[in-house]
Amino acid sequence: MRIGILGGTFDPIHKGHMEMADVAQKELGLDEVWIMPAGSPPHKSGDEITSRIHRFELCELACASHRNCLTMYREFSSLMSKPNYTYLTMEALKREYTEDEFYFLMGQDSIDYFDKWREPQRILDACKIVVFLRGDSKKDDRADQCMKKIASLKNQFQGEILPIFYQPTSISSTELRTMLFDGATDEEVLPFIDEKELLYIRKFHLYEKKVEYDTKAFLQKLKEDLKPSRFTHTIGVADTAASLAMKYGYDMNRAYVSGLLHDCAKYMTNEQLMTYCKNNGLAITEGEIKAPHLLHAKAGEHMAKVKYGVKDEEILHAISVHTTGCPNMSLLDKILFVADYIEPNRDKAHRLQEIRELAFWNLDFAILLILEDTISYIEGKNQYLDQGTIDTFDYYLKEKNS
Ligand SMILES: [Fe+2]
Ligand SMILES: [Fe+2]
Repeated sequence: MRIGILGGTFDPIHKGHMEMADVAQKELGLDEVWIMPAGSPPHKSGDEITSRIHRFELCELACASHRNCLTMYREFSSLMSKPNYTYLTMEALKREYTEDEFYFLMGQDSIDYFDKWREPQRILDACKIVVFLRGDSKKDDRADQCMKKIASLKNQFQGEILPIFYQPTSISSTELRTMLFDGATDEEVLPFIDEKELLYIRKFHLYEKKVEYDTKAFLQKLKEDLKPSRFTHTIGVADTAASLAMKYGYDMNRAYVSGLLHDCAKYMTNEQLMTYCKNNGLAITEGEIKAPHLLHAKAGEHMAKVKYGVKDEEILHAISVHTTGCPNMSLLDKILFVADYIEPNRDKAHRLQEIRELAFWNLDFAILLILEDTISYIEGKNQYLDQGTIDTFDYYLKEKNS
């Protein structure tokens, strides 16, 4: 097989990368292009780049919609060992795939420094180099300069360096990151990244400006408002939510803040909750009149906004649905709902151990069991069962069955 290798940090992968993969297949008759994200690029420390889990997932998503493109995990573990270099990778591939021919794909800016890379001759011994040049070398100075560089490299080293001329989508990962960090809308970034990848980025809040919360001040206020056992529970929920966020690749700080504030209105009596909601124009449902304690979620959402200054809609929504859940919950909704049930200070529910284990490998299944147990407990006690709990249970049962 003729195989193209496209390496890089892919932080994040974008349409320009995938165009290179498609164009290389067409122009060089390649059978496959392997996208090879670096676990730990030699020139960047672990803190400067996005988690390799997310970068690799985004590459997988991009490859899924491009013919004969595959994400290779060869470089994945290099973060744990020493930085890897292109010549080592290409020599290893040549040793392993003796029947195949490798083409190393690079953008025109990389060719300027190719002679400064580690062991350029050993790279050229292991594969052919393909350079993507923007524009036309006869009309375009930059392309002409690259052609001259290729000619000089050919004098300096043995091996093949093949130029391909094409007009790519003009974007770099750095530019895309900056756009996302500055709050670009979906419409603004979709010319440069596919919708599936963008949805993933939005879901995990990648490349966003992080909001700093003064959690010490939150804890101080909560300690003043809540009784000691409720405060202890609050800490347990916040820590558990942060742990679940780590497990599921969600923003840990958002999850922690949601946990801290989820019961911030729970110090009020039922009467006080009714009054608070009425005074602040919060609609009260029939179900909440029958079970006013449920109002602490709605009042808590409002209080998180006005007393704690939280503007993040995802956090506010998670607080508002933490008692009953709701159909089609966001990842944070699910994390908070489950953390509230399994936090270490809870000890009453009879299937707690099973649900705690489940929560860390199948969040939706854990939600289903929590709802099942909640409904069975409420019905057993002949208490009022809110329609929201039933709707959530029906939704996740249907999801499980599909
Ligand atoms: Fe609560
Ligand atoms: Fe709670």
